[in-house]
Amino acid sequence: MKRYVILISGRGSNMEAMLAADLPGRCAAVISNRPGATGLAYAAGRGVATAVIDHQAYPERAAFDAALAAEIDRHAPDLVVLAGFMRVLGDDFVRRYQGGMLNIHPSLLPSFPGLKTHEAALAAGVRLHGATVHFVTPTLDCGPIVIQAAVPVLAGDTAEALAARVLEQEHRIYPQAVRWFLEGRLRLADGRVRLEGEATTAGALVAPAG
Ligand code: GAR
Repeated sequence: MKRYVILISGRGSNMEAMLAADLPGRCAAVISNRPGATGLAYAAGRGVATAVIDHQAYPERAAFDAALAAEIDRHAPDLVVLAGFMRVLGDDFVRRYQGGMLNIHPSLLPSFPGLKTHEAALAAGVRLHGATVHFVTPTLDCGPIVIQAAVPVLAGDTAEALAARVLEQEHRIYPQAVRWFLEGRLRLADGRVRLEGEATTAGALVAPAG
């Protein structure tokens, strides 16, 4: 059975969705860069090991990355799952886990990388917004796309309303992507996503009704 580690920074609702999904792998640990991350209590309540590597204790990013990598490696995971992990990771760290690290981003990449994606989508006037799960590569929010979910942008939407609509889809597509990886069907080969045995190919678009 494959092992995975989840990295969070706060609420951890994507982590909750994953732990609730009864995935075919073992969540070896949930690690936060913030001591106050509320998701830690949920993980501990489910009997998952938790750890904090507080980025504020490390003035240099490289030292933080090294401490984080040491904690991750203690659990010998096959997969590192970034779930609302809000620290930018250095190139060396990313290369160490390349092909074995996924992220979820709250937009239809490559539109709206970075922060405040819902505000940016509203400002741009897009009619379709959503979320993307991708492999992590050194360029931020640019890795090969595994799965996306689209939601409509409705008249009168606020950033909060749009975020809630997107988050509901995040909770569907992220456990799905992690399931594929744990089943050994999803991998990165020559910089491209390979997904075996699925009718929907890599880059599948989930377009919910309504
Ligand atoms: C999610 O919307 C996730 O897509 C986003 O942060 C939120 C975390 O929520 N991630 C990013 O913006 C990464 N750049 P959660 O802690 O409840 O899962």
